[in-house]
Amino acid sequence: MPHIVLIGFMGCGKTTVGKQLSKQLSLPFVDTDEWIEKEQGIDINTIFAQYGEPYFRELETQVLKRLCENGKPHVISAGGGLPVQQQNLPYLKKIGEVIYLKANADSLEVRLAQDTKRPLLKEGRLRERIDTLLHERETGYEEAATHIIDTNSMDVGKILEKIVEILE
Ligand code: S3P
Repeated sequence: MPHIVLIGFMGCGKTTVGKQLSKQLSLPFVDTDEWIEKEQGIDINTIFAQYGEPYFRELETQVLKRLCENGKPHVISAGGGLPVQQQNLPYLKKIGEVIYLKANADSLEVRLAQDTKRPLLKEGRLRERIDTLLHERETGYEEAATHIIDTNSMDVGKILEKIVEILE
């Protein structure tokens, strides 16, 4: 079985869905953000503030590379910016099933309203940041994905069902 990677915008449900999927499939779960935070011993906000975004992106690529080289299948929740970094595309193309959990700006805005963990949403108005980044990234997500699930009208259970259907 190949790796199963969940991609999509911040707040689209990758981690929640990924954790449940890993239980259902009895596969280990990895969240690239959590991996980086654990290894660096600091949180993402601090990494961005102290070392800058390019440094964080390099750490993400290293994590992706290592997962790619790891033959044991995992359910992977990828940070929202990982699939749209050009240098990561070759790895995503060979890592396994890449499932894009597509969500619109309205549902993302609701989910991200109370967020304090994401450095890219700190500046300016939340809805404008979501609109801008989503517009910039949409094509990249679609390009990286092997499957796309439109999650807007789905709860977690339905998304899981859909993923299992795709993997069958
Ligand atoms: C980011 C998404 C975050 C995290 C970092 C940058 C992005 O992950 O990697 O804050 O560029 O979209 P989540 O998508 O898990 O929130």
